[in-house]
Amino acid sequence: MLKTVVGMKDYVFNEAKTLRFLEDTLLSLSKKYNCQEIKTPIVESVEVFTKSLGETSDVVSKEMFTFPDKSGDLLTLRPEGTAGIMRAVLTAGIKQNLPLKFFYSGPMFRYETPQKGRYRQFTQVGVEFLGYDNYLADLECIALAWDYIKALNLEKDCSLEVNSLGDKESREKYKQALVKYLQDYKTLLSKESQERLEKNPLRILDSKSEEDQKVLQKAPRLEDFLSENSKTWFMALKQGLTTWGIPFKENSLLVRGLDYYSETVFEITTDKLGAQSAILAGGRYNDLSKVLGGESISGVGFAAGAERLMMMIPALDKEALKVALVLLDSPKAQEYGLNVLRSLRDAGFSVEVPQNGSLVKKMKKADKLKAQYCVVIGEDEVNNQVVTLKEMSSGIQKQLNLKSLKEELSGKKNS
Ligand code: HAM
Repeated sequence: MLKTVVGMKDYVFNEAKTLRFLEDTLLSLSKKYNCQEIKTPIVESVEVFTKSLGETSDVVSKEMFTFPDKSGDLLTLRPEGTAGIMRAVLTAGIKQNLPLKFFYSGPMFRYETPQKGRYRQFTQVGVEFLGYDNYLADLECIALAWDYIKALNLEKDCSLEVNSLGDKESREKYKQALVKYLQDYKTLLSKESQERLEKNPLRILDSKSEEDQKVLQKAPRLEDFLSENSKTWFMALKQGLTTWGIPFKENSLLVRGLDYYSETVFEITTDKLGAQSAILAGGRYNDLSKVLGGESISGVGFAAGAERLMMMIPALDKEALKVALVLLDSPKAQEYGLNVLRSLRDAGFSVEVPQNGSLVKKMKKADKLKAQYCVVIGEDEVNNQVVTLKEMSSGIQKQLNLKSLKEELSGKKNS
């Protein structure tokens, strides 16, 4: 028997409905911030990600689905959306429209060890604000993220953390100071952090290991290395969050796992999902366009993991079926019934037609469909050009012509 690919799943019934709801909710909120939708390809050249996310990031070094196409070019299933959107802005002739705000949603792929809340195909919903080089864009972006959490009624279970990574120069100076300090304690660090000390020392800051955190207690702090510009920017952002009543914590150890960030970074986490606590994350990426070979375009954005959100919100109600249309099997009833069916759907009602068997059998099937109404067309109804309408909750039946039927179903006629 064929199987679903490891770490991937089918979305059906409530999951499919919730996924659409999560997409629609962010899409409609993002319109208040003047966002437009963008869809980029699921497959990109491998360089789009190796150049932007960093060769030493977990995503690039371990988690990408990369394969040669028939001409030998290396392609990658996108592990995230930001790099592809920046690639699109640089290559699709839309630069002249900057600044731009985009909403996006869609599947992402990472070859991770699957567990609750962590999949190899998952869905991100997010926004990217491109060409906005001001703290206000960061503030709006975080405010939109928090609006989203509030719209999903999750604010009590979530917390927002923010940090500033500063500009490139500040970060370089800090990196040197951090490495110098950590070298003296190298043997006390976890194995993973010892490796990171060479390749990506900043990532040691958000290590979950207790031994690492002990060593870090006395380590130099990033905020002491920020340039005046970065400090002013971050102060203005925090002031704005306070003015807008958005609750946040400053976390100087928050560094994010992708290399393209500078200045503001943020994350929304929950303690309701066990190990996979990050449900939304983002930040500013002023150098991303240049590493992709384009001119300088600043940007800020975030992405939320829809599957993680899905585990936190209650199941949505199934939309009720309005009408089950029960048709006698005679050619005349079928012909008349087809007209009624088309006309009801044209009028906007959801209609299902129970198949096969006697009228009684079909009525039983209609019952199972849990439709609000049953419309029956037998010999008499055809001869008189009417239908029998049965309200399922009360059992009340009446005969109506097509016009009155539509009025009755739309609640316009109360007799
Ligand atoms: P990220 O932190 O790698 O950031 O992913 C964002 C969110 O995607 C995570 O917080 C999590 O909810 C979800 N996620 C990540 N990996 C998985 C997985 N394997 N299974 C289920 N959910 C997952 C980014 O991707 C950046 N592009 C965010 C961003 C946008 N920064 C600026 N703009």
